[in-house]
Amino acid sequence: MRLFLPQDDPNPEGRVHARRDQANAYRYNRDTLGMLFATHVPLHEQFDPRYLAAMMQNAADIVKNRASQSVATWPKDDHGLAGLAARAPHEAVLGLARHLSATTGHLPERQPTELSGYADLIATLPKPRSLAHGGFDDDLFFAWQQVAGATPINLRGVDALPDNFPLDAATFARAVGGNDTLDAARAEGRLFLSDYAMFDRMPTGQTAGKPRYLWAPLALFVRTADGALRPVGIQLEQRPAKDNPVWLPGDGLAWRMAKTAVQTADMNVNGVVAHFGLCHAVTEAFICASHRQLAPSHPLLHLLLPHFEYTLAVNERARTSVVNTGGTQDTLLAGTREADFEVTNRAVASERWDRAGARAELAARGVDDRRRLPVYPFRDDGVPLADAIHRWVEGYIRVYYASDDAVRTDAEVRAWAEELGGPGGFHGMPKLDSIAGLAGFTGDVLFRITGLHAVINYAGWDFASWAPSMPSTGFGPGPVAGKAPTEADWLAMLPPLSIANGLLEMLYFLGQTRLNRLGEYPTGHFDDPRVAPALVQFQKDLAAIGRDSKARDAARPWSFPYLHPELLTASILV
Ligand SMILES: [Fe+2]
Repeated sequence: MRLFLPQDDPNPEGRVHARRDQANAYRYNRDTLGMLFATHVPLHEQFDPRYLAAMMQNAADIVKNRASQSVATWPKDDHGLAGLAARAPHEAVLGLARHLSATTGHLPERQPTELSGYADLIATLPKPRSLAHGGFDDDLFFAWQQVAGATPINLRGVDALPDNFPLDAATFARAVGGNDTLDAARAEGRLFLSDYAMFDRMPTGQTAGKPRYLWAPLALFVRTADGALRPVGIQLEQRPAKDNPVWLPGDGLAWRMAKTAVQTADMNVNGVVAHFGLCHAVTEAFICASHRQLAPSHPLLHLLLPHFEYTLAVNERARTSVVNTGGTQDTLLAGTREADFEVTNRAVASERWDRAGARAELAARGVDDRRRLPVYPFRDDGVPLADAIHRWVEGYIRVYYASDDAVRTDAEVRAWAEELGGPGGFHGMPKLDSIAGLAGFTGDVLFRITGLHAVINYAGWDFASWAPSMPSTGFGPGPVAGKAPTEADWLAMLPPLSIANGLLEMLYFLGQTRLNRLGEYPTGHFDDPRVAPALVQFQKDLAAIGRDSKARDAARPWSFPYLHPELLTASILV
């Protein structure tokens, strides 16, 4: 395809028509959740046989797993599955996924009496890392998940403790042991905090008439002399009080329960904020605006197209089976549907795109400096990847834009930026008036689509599919001040089998499918030979990043493979 900037197009009239057709095909439904979603998914954006085959395989694995779960007694199928076989293939596959998610409610709405009941749910599926480790009592593994788990984007470096987290020097010394002091840790920049204030007083839903629980904890960590991150204390709610103390590592089962509350909050950040909001919803708005404002022959749209594969179809499914009333988010996570949306909307609205890039985002959280936090796999693998993506995008853009002036006079890029920064869109849109500015913003979005989504989506299976390690909702109260909890109190915090199984099946669906790969474009996609040098360089960069990442990973206490280029998809496709 011949590509032109609008100002160089020899057929400006044809271009106007093409843009009008695109704007008609990709219209916004502004009523959905206060964010920009497409009113309908154009046919060419729908799932294809490759996608359906992958989903079919996942579904088969899940049905086989169900057949081997000894803790669960599944009812006989009332023609649900048999009926599906008679339908058109795409309806059958999507219907099968719906059937699986609907029938998980047939499991008992109770916690198992033994911890092993949760492990038994993972009968024939591969054992996730958390189950293999079994480490809800391992403080280092708990802290590790803040820097290399399913949601490694909460942790902040802090120079002082917030007023609502009253931890004094004596308590710090008791919690950490050895000769370390609060003053030294503060002075040396070794304090880190994860604050889940977004869930403060959030209304939670019910399951089978029982309330679900979610906490808004503050969790303090310290980097110790060996470079590792260790938890210091956890306060379950935002307002300090006698009945809301800071729990410490020496508090036995109460400490385990406090960590479970943090893990539960973390899983809700993953689902409600990071995955649906910051990855899927943001990308949908970006895709629609790109199609609506950039002509099909615009070089920028041509670069982006392979990074949009399947996303609109996936998001449509998410709207009808994940975030809808009775959908998986409504039934498996803690909040009410309305409360979840509010949190999602707030998170998306508070993000500023002039500092949403990987480097800027890490700096804003005070976790960019290796001297301060030597081991942060999400950063250590993420920054080289984000840099390589930026180099590639800029190299590509330079093929078509001779100067910054050419960017400034590109009316389609201007309209695109305006629409993206309009109502329901991106806040703090950067100025796209130079090659560097355009490449920077586009690279930031591509890192979101590839790198960030890869961690948030694909790490879920490893860390959250075994409920005791990272529950999707609480089902009983946390530790009570002045009362020594029992093992049964901790078990009562965990979700019932129906929720645990529903979540693990969803995470299996999400965690298995990779149908394209970052750095690989369809054959002949770039037929302009001037693009080849930048693309070849990008592929070399990715290969080098892969080697470095493997070497780093070999030295880590637990693996963090999620940003290895071999595992990165080019688009958000689950
Ligand atoms: Fe996803």
